[in-house]
Amino acid sequence: MNVLIIGSGGREHALAWKSAQDDFVKKVYVGPGNAGTDTEPKIQNVDLSNDFEKISAFCKSEEIGLVIVGPEQPLVDGLVDYLKANNIKAFGPDKKAARLEGSKSFSKDFFKKYKIPTASYKTFDSYEKAKDYLDLISYPTVVKADGLAAGKGVIICENKIEADAALQSIFLDKAFGSAGNKVVIEDFLKGEEASFIAVVSNKDIVPLATSQDHKAVEDGDKGLNTGGMGAYSPAPIVTDELSKKIIDQVMLPTMEGLINEGSPYLGFLYAGLMIDGEDIKVLEFNCRFGDPETQPIMMRLKSSLTNLCIDAIDGNLDNHKADWDERHACGVVIASEGYPENYAKNKEISFQALNNENMKIFHAGTKKDGEKILTSGGRVLCATALGKDLKEAQKLSYNAVKSISFEGAFFRKDIGHKGFK
Ligand code: AMP
Ligand code: GLY
Repeated sequence: MNVLIIGSGGREHALAWKSAQDDFVKKVYVGPGNAGTDTEPKIQNVDLSNDFEKISAFCKSEEIGLVIVGPEQPLVDGLVDYLKANNIKAFGPDKKAARLEGSKSFSKDFFKKYKIPTASYKTFDSYEKAKDYLDLISYPTVVKADGLAAGKGVIICENKIEADAALQSIFLDKAFGSAGNKVVIEDFLKGEEASFIAVVSNKDIVPLATSQDHKAVEDGDKGLNTGGMGAYSPAPIVTDELSKKIIDQVMLPTMEGLINEGSPYLGFLYAGLMIDGEDIKVLEFNCRFGDPETQPIMMRLKSSLTNLCIDAIDGNLDNHKADWDERHACGVVIASEGYPENYAKNKEISFQALNNENMKIFHAGTKKDGEKILTSGGRVLCATALGKDLKEAQKLSYNAVKSISFEGAFFRKDIGHKGFK
């Protein structure tokens, strides 16, 4: 069987690397992929330009038995619907179910309807109405652009002045384009963030190994929010007891709600949660795997990723048993100076060989230029390692970081620190 992975990030490199480990998988294509996927055995990049027709035709000509769609945008745009209509096995939610991530106002109304715990909120479609509301609330508050905004559409506002500035930037300056046609204003929640990622198919769920991301750009969880500067697995904050509560209070009601709405879920389902003592609240859903959570989680998955996805598509998830490495994994993102704001590109990266099979460098924003490998994005690489405990995994992943250099490279020095608390 051949597999096609859609996307170009560290998540897609890890998904492709893992898929290629199955003996029954002949070839893994990644569209468009990055320099890392381009240099792996059995893996080949392919330029499909996010063109649904091209992707579908490629699947037919290359006998693709499974498509895994990595990022949210093609899911929200309906790629899985298109492929399904062309009898191609595609793993990911359809357009309707992907609204859980694609529209904050949809997801908030959905949470309310199905009694899924979340922060109180109100939705607005004009600056004037939203501005009036700022007199009625307490601070801090949270202003969220409705649509996809590359992880930048959530603004935590300490006071009314900041909230007004956020509304002006979204509604009047169109900072996020049409993703800001509506705005959700919601209560600020305190607590510790955790995420819960599962493979979901209709009524069945296979939780993945627990993980925790580090979203802030600076050590000590300070500075701007990013897509994620590093992650580790397992995450002690998500105890067995908490997992059970999340499944009962968040995941199952979401899956049932979606069935009720006529759009049963298929794919990775990622709940971003705020945990405050006994209290769990949903911050957001992502309709895809996390990046960089995928990288350490894939290092720990012993059973087949492709079988897991195919069982989900075929409705056989109730019989599926995922097998996890008992060891811990840690992934440290190496980013380009300036990220998550403006950053330089086209810097040559030099790599030293890794001397340990428990280390792996996953590529994200990289591209080939002849024999050279250049940076092409803000998050460039993710140095990932397995160790007998978190301490060892952390140490090895930072050893792997040392094997890489490029001008302007930076990384957080404390990935995993949340796991030692
Ligand atoms: P979201 O994309 O909705 O997960 O928001 C991105 C980040 O903003 C989250 O990971 C939290 O750190 C923060 N955030 C979002 N909503 C809230 C909230 N209601 N209270 C506190 N922090 C929030
Ligand atoms: N690492 C967070 C995300 O993928 O959204």
